[in-house]
Amino acid sequence: MTLVVLVVALLGSACGSTDGEPGSEGLGDSFYPNLGNGGYDVLHYDIDLDIDPEANTIQALTTIISRANQDLSTFNLDLSGLTVAEVQVNGSGAEFSRSGTELVIKPADSLVSGTEFSTSVSYSGSPEPVVDPGVPFSTLGWLHTEGAIYTVSEPSGSMSWFPSNNHPTDKATFEIRITVPAPSTAASNGILVEESSADGCTTTTWRMDDPMAAYLAAVYVGDFERIETKQPGGPLIRDYVPRNSPAEIAEALSVTPQVIGYFEDLLGPYPFDAYGTIVMPHTLGFALENQTLSVHGRDTIDPLVIAHEIAHQWLGNSSTLDDWSETWLHEGFATYLSIMYMAEYHEWDLGEQMDQWHGRLSDTGAVPPMEIENSEMFDVSVYWRGALTLHALRGLAGETVFSDILRTHYERSADGNTNTAEFLAVVTQLAGSEATDLVESWLYDDPMPPM
Ligand code: TRP
Ligand code: ZN
Repeated sequence: MTLVVLVVALLGSACGSTDGEPGSEGLGDSFYPNLGNGGYDVLHYDIDLDIDPEANTIQALTTIISRANQDLSTFNLDLSGLTVAEVQVNGSGAEFSRSGTELVIKPADSLVSGTEFSTSVSYSGSPEPVVDPGVPFSTLGWLHTEGAIYTVSEPSGSMSWFPSNNHPTDKATFEIRITVPAPSTAASNGILVEESSADGCTTTTWRMDDPMAAYLAAVYVGDFERIETKQPGGPLIRDYVPRNSPAEIAEALSVTPQVIGYFEDLLGPYPFDAYGTIVMPHTLGFALENQTLSVHGRDTIDPLVIAHEIAHQWLGNSSTLDDWSETWLHEGFATYLSIMYMAEYHEWDLGEQMDQWHGRLSDTGAVPPMEIENSEMFDVSVYWRGALTLHALRGLAGETVFSDILRTHYERSADGNTNTAEFLAVVTQLAGSEATDLVESWLYDDPMPPM
């Protein structure tokens, strides 16, 4: 009798029906402890969206391939709003419940650490924008204006339109399929791999084969014209501008190949298969560096902003922060590199720019970039004191060592994640401890160091 029980128990565990533990509901980010989920790593998202642009509703199926990194009894995805009809794990119906932005899933059989599993979520409704304390200037996620649907998701907004492990430390590849009624056009990340029409609707399939953080996934629907630029040796360039817009709009985007070439010389090859700008039919007051498809407003297509979003493709998208308290690693770098580009090609005086910003920040107060609060993630100080940090380092280390630092920092973290400690280790290795102290004082000290 005892023996039988023992054999059954052993068989049980060998077949994977261990009980497991719940995966954690967050990854402990210092600003967003509940974003992301523990217990698994996502390898791939397949997102199928059927969109009614007039009603601003979606009918969707997202299938996620993940690998468990512990035995899991339940696990979470991040999803805000919408109505979930059904969840399947490995093809079998799974129990689920909603609690805030956590979708809690209980598979019929627990999942064994190290194994891959698929999760399919069928859902529908009208996506609601997300209010995020880090972005006081905009609601996030799926937005709807006259004539267009567009997404701007950094940092938390993606959960308004697909369930995910919504933290930049869990990157994955993506396939996004979008069905819209004619004559609307759709655009998304990566390469357009398939296009078909049926019943007055067009379906386009987009593939992002390089790792991407959930916040950089994007969808646009409207009346856009696609403009392709062939660039020998570089990535495919395809921009989207509102149909029948004045020629100046497309013209403004013509700096793109030059900017990409400039940053390739500085940092190494462009990280992805394609790049382009999508210009909204309205103003935005900002731009956002979605992977391979930055979104700009009609008001934000000057070369500085275009270069800023392109710089993010290396620093932000390929090399990505591992905690949302370190946005200076994205914004300070993109700001400084875009000004270097302006100095090289548009006659800007870099030193004068730096002096001016130092003066402005000294007057208005400049929170140290590494001492920010959640609401200050995209504060001017993160951008400009971040840029001043790099400028000070360049002054001390000299041109050659500074370029080595940029390139080494990028190479070590490309296609992955990084943090300030790793950057400082590169600085110490290539420029010594005096340079490290200098960078630290720019990042941490109050008041800000003198120029
Ligand atoms: N990363 C953007 C930039 O390049 C700023 C930003 C962060 C943003 N979150 C956003 C813009 C949300 C629009 C919407 O500066
Ligand atoms: Zn930026």
